[in-house]
Amino acid sequence: MSPRAATARSPAPAPAGVSDGEFARFQALVHREAGIWLSPAKKALLCGRLARRVRELGLGTLGSYAEVVERDLAERVHMLDCITTNETHFFREPRHFEILDQHLFPAWRAEGEAGRRPRRVRLWSAACSTGEEPYSLAMALLRAFPPGSGWELEVLATDLSTRVLERARQATWPIAKQSEIPLADLRAFMLRGTGSQEGRMKAGPELRELVRFSRLNLNDAIYPVAGSFDAIFCRNVLIYFDAPTKAAVVERLRGHLSPGGYLFLGHAESLGGRGTGLVPVFPTVYARAPGGGS
Ligand SMILES: C[S@@+](CC[C@H](N)C(=O)[O-])C[C@H]1O[C@@H](n2cnc3c(N)ncnc32)[C@H](O)[C@@H]1O
Repeated sequence: MSPRAATARSPAPAPAGVSDGEFARFQALVHREAGIWLSPAKKALLCGRLARRVRELGLGTLGSYAEVVERDLAERVHMLDCITTNETHFFREPRHFEILDQHLFPAWRAEGEAGRRPRRVRLWSAACSTGEEPYSLAMALLRAFPPGSGWELEVLATDLSTRVLERARQATWPIAKQSEIPLADLRAFMLRGTGSQEGRMKAGPELRELVRFSRLNLNDAIYPVAGSFDAIFCRNVLIYFDAPTKAAVVERLRGHLSPGGYLFLGHAESLGGRGTGLVPVFPTVYARAPGGGS
């Protein structure tokens, strides 16, 4: 159904129709809940994304929707699902995967074989969207530490949005996305859908075994995540946060890195300033400084 047809069937608030007061109410709510800062330039975007939900609930205005969201936790979760931006793809920012393949994996393998570290690698995709990032990490891991090599592998994948987590757990994507995956990985790890799954591809069982999903809000004061990670990928999400939220998130993530573990940010993100307990080692890749606390 086209957006034009949807508009004709039922009344929807005009995107430009949000008052400054209504917008400020959502701005505060979204910031408090998710740490996401909606600048005034995002007004039309906010309206566009929430208009359909306002219609579904039979509400006339964004103001009355704000009242529902403020008193109803489930609706808050739904609202956050609507406003998050989930764009992602397999092997996004390929330089990061080269750093894993050429520097980190060989170093960890050598240390493991010399008995200087456990033969175990734990990675965390901390804003995993529809799963392309954690499954790319799983493919890279399985290539470097094949089954039977005696290494224990794990990818934790978390996101705020229940909608994208649901899709990520299904581990299926349109077949057009195969062009994002190197041919050897595609052949080794992905299954082509048939019958009702025609036109789709699915992660194979070895990949699915490695990745586990959980909802986690990076804006929460405590992350219910056990153990530490060799690398955390927190890419293309800090850009949505204001500076104090970003600093607090980085500090919490640092506490979940193994000594010498790595934090990967998106290409447009940086840590700005000193005192983060993290040192830059490659562009947008930071290592937990020795003695950087826990
Ligand atoms: C643009 S996608 C990035 C996906 C992937 N990391 C990548 O780089 O391709 C941003 C993701 O951050 C998630 N997100 C936004 N705010 C969040 C928060 N407070 N806690 C956890 N995830 C959040 C969104 O739901 C979305 O899936």
